[in-house]
Amino acid sequence: MFSLKLAVVFVLFVVETSSNQALDERISWKEWWAYEGPSGPTRWGGIEDSWKICTKGMYQSPINILPEKLLFDPNLMRLNLDTRKQIPGNLINTGHDLTFLLDDVMSGLFNISDGPLMYNYQVNEIKIHYGRDDERGSEHMVDGATFAAEIQFIAYNIDLYKNISEARIQPYGTTILAVFAEIGLPESSTFQTLVNYATRIRYKGQSIRIEALNIKDLLPRSNYYVTYEGSFTQPGCQETVTWIIPNKPIYISKANLISLRNLYQSSSDLPVFKLDNSRRSVMPLNNRVVKTNINYPGRGDLCSMSKETFYEVNPAMRI
Ligand SMILES: *[C@@H]1O[C@H](CO)[C@@H](O)[C@H](O)[C@H]1NC(C)=O
Ligand SMILES: *[C@@H]1O[C@H](CO)[C@@H](O)[C@H](O)[C@H]1NC(C)=O
Repeated sequence: MFSLKLAVVFVLFVVETSSNQALDERISWKEWWAYEGPSGPTRWGGIEDSWKICTKGMYQSPINILPEKLLFDPNLMRLNLDTRKQIPGNLINTGHDLTFLLDDVMSGLFNISDGPLMYNYQVNEIKIHYGRDDERGSEHMVDGATFAAEIQFIAYNIDLYKNISEARIQPYGTTILAVFAEIGLPESSTFQTLVNYATRIRYKGQSIRIEALNIKDLLPRSNYYVTYEGSFTQPGCQETVTWIIPNKPIYISKANLISLRNLYQSSSDLPVFKLDNSRRSVMPLNNRVVKTNINYPGRGDLCSMSKETFYEVNPAMRI
């Protein structure tokens, strides 16, 4: 009797994806790629024809952000984040990463607009990237340094496109708000909540329902960011992403990271590989410009920012 009751509780909490058609339609389980080994990042371009850009693309992400090369752009607006207080969705072990898929409701639960954006974007999912070491978890780097983790809010253009699948292959299709996480205090309680739920979906294909996630607690309190045009950091690496990266991290615990590294890449019958690395190496910047709304001291204040100094900041921009 007891075990039956337990089994019922288990089913209520953990929904195997095979029994959840709605989720199956929104997640691609069949993709064979990895962060290491023979189907690792340097080989992604050869796995499928449409993924060629992973290898050949010139606008790939992530990148190493060089503070001294940032271009201050006085036209960049304040970023507008409209989020419901509590957001319902499903936390999924995709085998590649930990993804929180927001419920697909007609009106967005979390919208991103302004900043460098000309359209309105709706967050579809949140992905957490981390690595084997506390010092090497984020995908983006700043001046050659990595952070403990990177939380990516993946949003699509709702003014032009119907869903993320359509948007990710179209111009101005998507934006990703990438938040760095560092070990420290005050700890994000929402991150802690995500990790607690994650320990119940250790194997690929498992998912768990979260009725109310407080997203605000995953966002740093800062109006400053850097932005550039890049790509998805997973196959097919489509170059349709406006990246927005706040200048402040949120804080998480070492214990959180240890729990995440105990997830598995494989399903429960084959618990071979730990899901302890979900980061792609930095890609060449090529001639891209990384802009910021941070007006560094010594570069004059916003009001005195003339066209001339605007171009002076980055010599590469001089015509
Ligand atoms: C997001 O945008 C949609 C469409 O404009 C709107 O209906 C919805 O209320 C917005 N959501 C939030 C949380 O502001
Ligand atoms: C996304 O929108 C496109 C174009 O309207 C449609 O063909 C496709 O079935 C939609 N995909 C999903 C997953 O809803």
